[in-house]
Amino acid sequence: MDLPIFYDQREEWNNALLLYDAALKEINTKLEILNNEFKLDHQYNPIEHITSRIKTPQSIAKKLRHNGRELTIENIIKYINDVAGIRIICSFTSDIYRIADLISKQSDIKVLKIKDYITSPKENGYTSYHMIVSIPVFLSNRTVDTKVEIQIRTIAMDFWASLEHKIYYKFEGNAPEHIKKELKECSEIVAYLDQKMLSLNEELRQCNPNHEEKYQKELVENYRNVVAESFGTIVEEEEVYSPNDQKVSQAANKKKKVNRKGRKRFIFGVM
Ligand code: GTP
Ligand code: MG
Repeated sequence: MDLPIFYDQREEWNNALLLYDAALKEINTKLEILNNEFKLDHQYNPIEHITSRIKTPQSIAKKLRHNGRELTIENIIKYINDVAGIRIICSFTSDIYRIADLISKQSDIKVLKIKDYITSPKENGYTSYHMIVSIPVFLSNRTVDTKVEIQIRTIAMDFWASLEHKIYYKFEGNAPEHIKKELKECSEIVAYLDQKMLSLNEELRQCNPNHEEKYQKELVENYRNVVAESFGTIVEEEEVYSPNDQKVSQAANKKKKVNRKGRKRFIFGVM
């Protein structure tokens, strides 16, 4: 492909990297927020850990070559969906679907493709939940929807995938039959283990349902609904509340502020 004289590939690539890096940062922040919220509400982390990476130039070149495409920035952006990748490791399979659902519900994220290798494992036994999403990156003069591949799996699935990956590279994709067979058996053990751990965890959640805790949660939820709007709106800080729309003196205002503080303490006391 002939490039116009002013076309600078390096500059284009740096611009692409800036977008992919920004998209990863945005999704990482979203996940961190969701995880923190979940931890606050349920006293446990659905996300064990997250890793993210930008695909290496060697790996990008290899993939394009493998698919018979010319190595151009345009082709990379168009045909390689996992230049930016995030891997989310969870404890339980139920967390995988919960996180995938929460990601899909974010209004600025578009889900472009889903591959559920948990309900339909790959021939070799690989299991994981894959999403290709796009997220808008706001630059000074334009907004660019940028693709990110998200892989969500349990600790056990991740354990299996990293060993399989090592074996795949060691034998350059041609591992001896007995190793392939044992790997497949391991993947069945992984699925069994994940299922067992999930049902044990469910049982744990079912026993001794704490009614007091449920009541407290409802109170907190109501309180959150009441104050939700105030997070994003402003009123004059000095505005004085008066039921009869009458002016109230500064002294009375101060007194009200003290009362309000007292009320706040009471609410957090309930929490
Ligand atoms: P590539 O595999 O990246 O060429 O893309 P694809 O279109 O086949 O997408 P797919 O969703 O199948 O796989 C994307 C990524 O998932 C890979 O880059 C790996 O990180 C991971 N993956 C897929 N299959 C396997 C597998 O059999 N073993 C391991 N260890 N990882 C896998
Ligand atoms: Mg593949």
